[in-house]
Amino acid sequence: MSDILEKIKKIDDLPTLPAVAMEALSLAHAPNVSIAKLSEVIHKDPPLATKMLKMANSSFYKRGDKPVETIQRAITILGLSEIINITSSVTVLSTFTSKKGFIWESFWDHCVATAIVARTMARKIRMETQGREFVGGLLHDIGKIVLDYTVRDEFNKALDLSITRDCPLYEAEQEILGTSHMEVGALLAQRWNLPDYLSDIIRWHHAPEKSQFKPMTALISIADLLAKAKQLSYGGDTLSFVLADQAGWQVLLEHRYPMDELDLERITFEMDSLADTVRDYIKSVSE
Ligand SMILES: [Fe+2]
Ligand SMILES: [Fe+2]
Repeated sequence: MSDILEKIKKIDDLPTLPAVAMEALSLAHAPNVSIAKLSEVIHKDPPLATKMLKMANSSFYKRGDKPVETIQRAITILGLSEIINITSSVTVLSTFTSKKGFIWESFWDHCVATAIVARTMARKIRMETQGREFVGGLLHDIGKIVLDYTVRDEFNKALDLSITRDCPLYEAEQEILGTSHMEVGALLAQRWNLPDYLSDIIRWHHAPEKSQFKPMTALISIADLLAKAKQLSYGGDTLSFVLADQAGWQVLLEHRYPMDELDLERITFEMDSLADTVRDYIKSVSE
């Protein structure tokens, strides 16, 4: 095992999973969650409640002209599972970003863009996801935050190397750190007891053929590439690729998803118009 991975394993002061996220995640498995119970959980965390309301009023979710003024109403509009998913992922991400005292802007952009593209794709190829594609998109690169938090100098070297060599960041990480954001992210997922599908996406989003949740991880891997292709990324990850050559594309074809429904030109075109939605969404969760 790499020294750095060993080092990260021994760090005791990695942030703990926020109580609200833990509660929201456990509610996700409860069969009969009520709106009242969920809004009670959210109300325990006033900044989160404010974020939820801002989100429900952002252009991504907004329906009609009336502003959404209560959490109950937000839950009705966004749906129970969407609120549970978003509550958990947003609190997870802000655990790190708030500790650093600033929002890592381009990182957020990339996470949110991946989540939104994954959702758009899932709808087009009619994949049943229960909103998990959105959480997966938001959290797939969480290992990068851990690396930045724990071994910043080395991680910056890896970022530089990926730019000068024009290679994927995970390759540069492997060379400089002897580990990768996938491995480190999976470690955090395990420590936090995140659901299996999530740790699997985090671990295998650059090699979806090895995932236990292949179609879902493949979906995230393609969404990740498309988000990068639209330059909603940071670091030197390579931007040129042929989709049909991607493992994720092959996995989705093997699982009989109608990939011909995925008109990529239209999706990339739609992504241009989604960019504003992405920014609006980010604003709603990061202020
Ligand atoms: Fe990644
Ligand atoms: Fe990514």
